Amino acid sequence: MKTIVVGVCGGIAGYKAIEIVHSLTKKGYDVHVIMTKNATEFITPLTFQSLSHNPVVTDMFNPIDKWDTKHIQLAKKADLFLIAPATANIIGKIACGIADDMLSTTVMATKAPVIIAPAMNTNMWENPILKDNVRKLTTYGYKVLETGHGQLACGDIGTGKLLDWTAIVTVVENSLL
Ligand SMILES: Cc1cc2nc3c(=O)[nH]c(=O)nc-3n(C[C@H](O)[C@H](O)[C@H](O)COP(=O)(O)O)c2cc1C
Repeated sequence: MKTIVVGVCGGIAGYKAIEIVHSLTKKGYDVHVIMTKNATEFITPLTFQSLSHNPVVTDMFNPIDKWDTKHIQLAKKADLFLIAPATANIIGKIACGIADDMLSTTVMATKAPVIIAPAMNTNMWENPILKDNVRKLTTYGYKVLETGHGQLACGDIGTGKLLDWTAIVTVVENSLL
């Protein structure tokens, strides 16, 4: 059984990660979810725990359930790492080598392929600093997905929407082949 670690960040598109986790679990993958602290403002760990049938990690230091450190354990266990939705913040942190929470630290520690599905306001998505960070991640081998176009949660119309969740699941499955 292939293991997929799904990182969920603090964006309004977090509810779409619920469908992704549900779908991947139903397809037979071993899905482990890491949520940023800010992601828990939008959705609860309990939802992901119930759907993935695995504990959800939100904190670097609690719980340390075994002798093993959880971020290294998950980083090694992953056959593939998906971050969806990925905020401008996590993209910037990974691009700069910052590892200051469970998600950014585990991504830093993994050798698995990493797929990043960004979701943010159009102005954030078009910000040249963000674009530079995406380019940098791409040169290091991270797969950064395109965003969709349409009406955003804030009411703006433009790019920056999370790619349709079914398309994300397809990319994940194809990457595992
Ligand atoms: C209602 C609301 C919606 C937000 N949506 C997004 C979003 O879609 N994309 C994004 O990059 N940031 C969004 N933010 C800002 C992030 O939550 C903020 O940058 C945070 O620091 C991200 O933390 P994380 O990357 O650790 O999850 C939103 C904030 C609020 C209050």
